[in-house]
Amino acid sequence: MMRLAICILFAATVFSVGQFAGARLAHGADAPVGLLAATCAGCHGPDGNSSGPATPTIARMSPIYFILAMDEYRQGVRNSTIMARIARGYSLAEIQAMAQWFGSRPLLPVVQPFDARLASLGKDLHERYCKKCHLGSGPVAGRAGVLIGQWSPYLRASFNDMVEGRRPMPTNMKRWVDRLVRIEGREGLRALFHYYARGR
Ligand code: HEC
Ligand code: HEC
Repeated sequence: MMRLAICILFAATVFSVGQFAGARLAHGADAPVGLLAATCAGCHGPDGNSSGPATPTIARMSPIYFILAMDEYRQGVRNSTIMARIARGYSLAEIQAMAQWFGSRPLLPVVQPFDARLASLGKDLHERYCKKCHLGSGPVAGRAGVLIGQWSPYLRASFNDMVEGRRPMPTNMKRWVDRLVRIEGREGLRALFHYYARGR
C-alpha cells in the first residue's frame, strides 16, 4: 500500500496511463465529451457542481487529480460506493477528455453549515499544514484535490478512508497530518473541516 502511494505521488500520470493502456476498452469508439459528461450530471450536478452531500463536486478539478482518481477507482485501491463500477466503463481517452471538460467548468462553493469560530482557526491551520499541496481550487490545485468549498460529509468520509487505510494516503501528506494532530490535537483537525465547509 505504501509503495503504491509513493508511486502515485511521484509518477501519477505515467502510472495511470500505464494501467489504462492494458485495460479493455468498454466502447468501440470514444464518445463525444458533452455526451459523456451528461451521464455524470445525474449525481455530480450540471457542470460538476453537486447538490448531494455524499457526492463530491468535480467542477474545476485538476485534470491530473481527476485521472488519478478514476484510475484508483478502476483498480479498486480507493474505497467507493459506486465509482469503481462507473470508472471501468470508460477508455483513457474518454477520461482525459472529461478531465479537461470538468476542469474548465466554474466552481460554485457548496453552501452548508459551519462553526464560525472553528472555521477561522481552521483557515490558519490550513495555511500552515495543508496549503503547500492543497493550493486552492481548480487546475492550480495540482494533483491534491479541492478541499475548500467541497461537500463536508464527502470530505470527512474521504479523509477517514485515508486514515483507516481504505484509500492510499500520500506519505508526505501523512507526515503533515500527524504533525497537525500532535501539535494542535483533534480540535485542530475538526477546525480544518469547518473551514473547508465555509468555503472561502
Ligand atoms: C450514481 C451516482 C454517480 C454517477 C452517475 C457518477 N458519480 Fe462520480 N462519484 C459519485 C460518488 C458517490 C462519489 C464518491 C465515491 C463513491 O462513493 O463512489 C464519486 C466520486 C467521483 C470522483 C472523485 C472526486 C474527488 O474529489 O476525489 C470523480 C473524479 C468522479 N466521481 C467522476 C465521475 C464521472 C467522470 C462520472 C461520469 C462518467 C461520474 N463520476 C458519475 C457518484 C456518481
Ligand atoms: C505533501 C502534500 C500534501 C499535504 C501537505 C496535504 N495533502 Fe491532502 N492530499 C495530497 C494528495 C496528493 C492527495 C490526493 C491523493 C490521492 O487521491 O491519491 C490528497 C488528498 C486529500 C484528501 C482527499 C480529497 C478528496 O477529494 O477526496 C483530503 C480530505 C486531504 N488530502 C486532506 C488534507 C489535510 C486536512 C491536510 C493538512 C493537514 C493535507 N491534506 C495535507 C497531498 C497533500
